[in-house]
Amino acid sequence: MAKSPSFTCTACGATHTKWSGRCDACGDWNTIVEDAGLSAGGKKSLGANRGSAIQLTDLQTEESPPPRTHSGIDELDRVLGGGLVPASALLVGGDPGIGKSTLLLQAAAEFARAGVKTIYVSGEEATAQVRMRAKRLGLSDAPVQLASETNLRNILTTLEAEKPGLAIIDSIQTMWSDTVDSAPGSVSQVRSAAHELTTFAKRKGVSVILVGHVTKDGQIAGPRVVEHMVDTVLYFEGERGHQFRILRAVKNRFGPADEIGVFEMTGRGLEQVTNPSALFLSERGKPSAGSVVFAGIEGTRPVLVELQALVAPSPHSQPRRTVVGWDGGRLAMILAVLEARCGIPFAGLDVYLNVAGGMKISEPAADLAVAAALLSAREDAALPEGAVVFGEISLSGALRPAPQTENRLKEAQKLGFTTALAPAGGKAIETSGIKVQQMHDLTSFVGEVFGAG
Ligand code: TYD
Ligand code: MG
Repeated sequence: MAKSPSFTCTACGATHTKWSGRCDACGDWNTIVEDAGLSAGGKKSLGANRGSAIQLTDLQTEESPPPRTHSGIDELDRVLGGGLVPASALLVGGDPGIGKSTLLLQAAAEFARAGVKTIYVSGEEATAQVRMRAKRLGLSDAPVQLASETNLRNILTTLEAEKPGLAIIDSIQTMWSDTVDSAPGSVSQVRSAAHELTTFAKRKGVSVILVGHVTKDGQIAGPRVVEHMVDTVLYFEGERGHQFRILRAVKNRFGPADEIGVFEMTGRGLEQVTNPSALFLSERGKPSAGSVVFAGIEGTRPVLVELQALVAPSPHSQPRRTVVGWDGGRLAMILAVLEARCGIPFAGLDVYLNVAGGMKISEPAADLAVAAALLSAREDAALPEGAVVFGEISLSGALRPAPQTENRLKEAQKLGFTTALAPAGGKAIETSGIKVQQMHDLTSFVGEVFGAG
């Protein structure tokens, strides 16, 4: 093996095998220095060989923001951060049967109608099946090109020849590459297929949407293994038995994460829900014990949801704690704070908490609404009519102001609520038409809302 040059001229960058006083390349004197190795050594280290220097730039840009294509489905466009970005890779994850294929077929049709050349490749269904679904959804006239294929090489060859603006791959777990030995759906196949497709997207300027099934058993790789490769990760969530579906951005290189789009699964496919608060509260009757309306924020949008609690004497030595739509650990924390700071024990009582409508909440600002629902259920006393609740509870029992208070209040007022129970402090709250009852800690909240508690 040839020995690498180990002397470099600091003026012109020429490399020499031995030191000399004058650089032959540029003629400068005293500019040649001995190279130290790039790294410390070891079998797999880079050793002394240099790479080429990378061009560095500053943060200023003259480039305009990426152009976006609108699907016309507002709920989808907002979750994407304002529309589809060219040459981007997107992952849509979700439980099997939740409606991913339905959503993407509808999106494909809308993008195609908007003038984007769209190819939909199904690895799960025959083209006849997809066509039948399109007919049922009233999308047959949309200029979408359809294929049923799982061989990645064939798909990439086709995409290269057709040069579409958008390619939808349903699903990534059914794709297989002939360079990888393992079975389709295995981690290495899914990784390799996603890698090929995302790099293809960047090189050829095609937007690629990958569908990924969330899987429970370890045999088939879930969408998590490709999350880091794509620009945008959306999850399609919802409870079986509920018709509501929520599309949530958990990662977005081109827009805000945490944004949600709300859909309703109907006989004619997914329909957008433009006012989710009204929908989530539509089944609510008169205020009853254990029911509380939480004024939440999802991404940039306020959403009101109903929290329901049930507290009953437990026949078990270990009382049950059951949560749907919220974090069980956080519920335990609220119960502990209520017991330790307000002297309200839940020992010997079963506690059930449910977020109505199949919604999932992860905001800490729901703490106070959860505490209110628990207390209301325990005391069998309904909250005042027309009240919404929000605020974070700290372990000391103090209440912390929630972000975007004003948006929450505006949404509550818009839906006819008259009172808000909220933490004191934060920005001065001035919203006409809604009375804001501000409290510093959980004890005063219990006192004000439930008498002495
Ligand atoms: P699908 O999009 O096939 O789910 P995924 O691709 O996530 O596995 O959706 C399947 C479910 O959606 C199926 O149980 C029936 C329901 N559905 C409707 O209720 N209405 C419709 O118009 C369509 C197309 C599906
Ligand atoms: Mg499907």
